[in-house]
Amino acid sequence: MIPLAHSRRQFLQFTGAAAVVAAGHRLVPAWFNARAAAPAAKALSLLGNLDFGAVAISHADALTVPAGFKAEVLLRRGDVLNPQGERYGDHNDYLTWLPRDERTAWLWCNHENVQLELFEGGWDGRWTEARAAEFLRMQGGSAIRLERDGAGRWRPVLPHADNFRADGLTTKIALGGPAAGTSWVKGAREAIGTTSNCGGGLTPWGTVCTAEENYQETWGDPEMGVAPSPAAGFFPRPSEHYGYIVELDLATRAAVKHTALGRFAHENVAFNTARDGRLVAYMGDDRNGECLYKFVSDEKYEPAAGAANRRLLERGTLFAADTEKGRWLPLDPTQTPALARAGFDRARVCVHTRAAAKLAGATPLARPEDVEVHPSSGEVYVALTAWQPGANDAKRPAYFKEAAGAIGALREAGGDAGAREFEFRIFVPGGAETGLAWPDNLAFTPEQHLLVTTDFSVKPRPEAGGTQAAFGNNFLVVVPTAGPQAGQVKRFAVAPRGAEFCSPTLSPDGGELWVNVQHPGGDSTATELTSRWPDGGTSMPRSALVAIRRT
Ligand code: FEO
Ligand code: CA
Ligand code: CA
Repeated sequence: MIPLAHSRRQFLQFTGAAAVVAAGHRLVPAWFNARAAAPAAKALSLLGNLDFGAVAISHADALTVPAGFKAEVLLRRGDVLNPQGERYGDHNDYLTWLPRDERTAWLWCNHENVQLELFEGGWDGRWTEARAAEFLRMQGGSAIRLERDGAGRWRPVLPHADNFRADGLTTKIALGGPAAGTSWVKGAREAIGTTSNCGGGLTPWGTVCTAEENYQETWGDPEMGVAPSPAAGFFPRPSEHYGYIVELDLATRAAVKHTALGRFAHENVAFNTARDGRLVAYMGDDRNGECLYKFVSDEKYEPAAGAANRRLLERGTLFAADTEKGRWLPLDPTQTPALARAGFDRARVCVHTRAAAKLAGATPLARPEDVEVHPSSGEVYVALTAWQPGANDAKRPAYFKEAAGAIGALREAGGDAGAREFEFRIFVPGGAETGLAWPDNLAFTPEQHLLVTTDFSVKPRPEAGGTQAAFGNNFLVVVPTAGPQAGQVKRFAVAPRGAEFCSPTLSPDGGELWVNVQHPGGDSTATELTSRWPDGGTSMPRSALVAIRRT
């Protein structure tokens, strides 16, 4: 059993209510798990028995939940976090919590993107150094102290001196792994800032990983033919310093970009251990026609070593998936001669990872986004958000018939996360028949129900037809993975106009579902604001973290 899981269990018992969680190794996304036997649950989490009335599709500018539930906003973009005046960033995406001591816990939230035009006071579209700084400062992540309030609910405490930001403007982050100090990263051993922070994951030793996704939108990428944003004109930095999994130790604030895990549009990361004890990290690359990856460490995970296990993420083998033949292809020039012939050494693989995966013969997928490890089967569930016609159509795998995406499931040979072979199947296809559309974030409840959030484009507008006309605003569904209702999609919540839900996460006592609402009003135009959520009236729309519970 891993130490943090242990401490987390004690923590949850300490919180009292939490039979659920006391039982549950699973409160958190993708925890280690597969083989950590779960004691029988004594109580169900908020969504455990599925006893809610499915909500209908909606185009309303409101967060819709079933009768008998209510939503409360806990944090909003711009909230002041600490006495220094640092603020909660924009576009909250990944969220997680970690036990800290007997009375407190940490909350971590990513900030993926920024819409300056929706900030209070508006924006004339002209870039200045101050605007560029704001744009970078509002990306990254927020670490926030959690305590229980008078009603026993875990709530953010702010402002508080413990709270801090990692941002795109000032945070210094070490570069680790084979590419650090090489010409592929311009000789650097340190990068400034983290941006485009999408999903994430928790390491077994209790640190947070944040995934740098569409870094090219800020820093550009010559290989992709994308120019840097105007913000990068004021703060020019190498594109090669972004696009990594970044590990943060909230206790020490130490941070490292793990180049060994590759550079691409990292959606998130989910950990497991191989049968022989090596650490395994699964990752998706959220871009049409890109690949699914796993990293296997050279050395074994040592629970007693705590945070020193970080070194596992610096030495190992990165694999890309051939889902047609069910093989993991090593992106190692000594094992895959095509890489050596093309001039790839191990460091270059870490930076030009997509090119390496293509050379090795990996399968182009339909935007592989969230990956999560099933708590009992160890299968890896993958959100295949959608195939967008155009790119790589000739290489389109036969099983991507659905434009509305799918959830895939990967079963490693022999149930060993370290295996070189696997079976791949579609768990739920997207479309009107199933009720699933453009799946993005995944999470398991202790009862092994899969929570899925959708992320379809909110442009074009519903009146123009397309996904919004068919499915309404983006939504959140519950999909059992076992029992008679396995694979059936039940809609639990609908996001406000123009928004998507991100990172559904059970609260420490299992009694609330915490979820981020990202980019309300995302389909606004220069002349029409489509959302005033969450504050209504004449306020500007703001991304926010909400807690949903029973009334
Ligand atoms: Fe940041 Fe793939 O969504
Ligand atoms: Ca996402
Ligand atoms: Ca998304």
